[in-house]
Amino acid sequence: MDDHAARRGRPRRVSPRLYDGVAGALDRMGLARLRADLSRGLRGDVLEVGAGTGRQLPHHPPGTRVTATDPDAGALALAARRSPATRTVMAAAEALPFDDGSFDWVVCALVLCTVREPATALAEMRRVLRPGGRLRALEHVRSPNRALARAEEIVTPLWGTVAGGCHLDRATGETLAAAGFSGVTARPHLGGNVLLLEAARPL
Ligand SMILES: C[S@@+](CC[C@H](N)C(=O)[O-])C[C@H]1O[C@@H](n2cnc3c(N)ncnc32)[C@H](O)[C@@H]1O
Repeated sequence: MDDHAARRGRPRRVSPRLYDGVAGALDRMGLARLRADLSRGLRGDVLEVGAGTGRQLPHHPPGTRVTATDPDAGALALAARRSPATRTVMAAAEALPFDDGSFDWVVCALVLCTVREPATALAEMRRVLRPGGRLRALEHVRSPNRALARAEEIVTPLWGTVAGGCHLDRATGETLAAAGFSGVTARPHLGGNVLLLEAARPL
């Protein structure tokens, strides 16, 4: 495959500063309230996967020992500036560079829509949790409304190329339910288009 063919259809990296500005606007429009729910009650060793520019980091409770990962070095640099106490590690969710059972909590915000292999990413998140440790994820998902879900399917190939590989049509709740966690719950927001998912690594 030549370079042009290889580039065609590949998601374009979103400038971290541009993303941070858009995400800041969404936070002010109400996303910050969901971010507070995502971080509520976390304790101990916390891994945030796909932390991006670190917009979730200020929500994590005081006293938590937070490690933030992302494959984008520019985004992680902004995250480190936003939260200097956080350990930042460049890594993809599908290959987390941590020992089995390293964390009490794994969290992610708006990441499972974007990772290349959600099932592999969830297996990695489960692996690095201590037995009984918990995963919490805030995700936009495939709409429960059939017409909207169909529109998401149609728009996703184009949307993904300009939005860093984001999929509008992923059934992330179902993927999590099949990923070997126990006690999976999904709290719906915005008519079920956004879910706050939680699950535990079995003991
Ligand atoms: C929509 S942004 C969310 C950023 C941040 N979690 C937030 O709440 O603002 C998606 C993030 O997923 C990251 N990402 C993309 N592919 C990834 C992968 N394979 N593993 C982990 N993170 C990934 C991107 O670099 C980006 O920072």
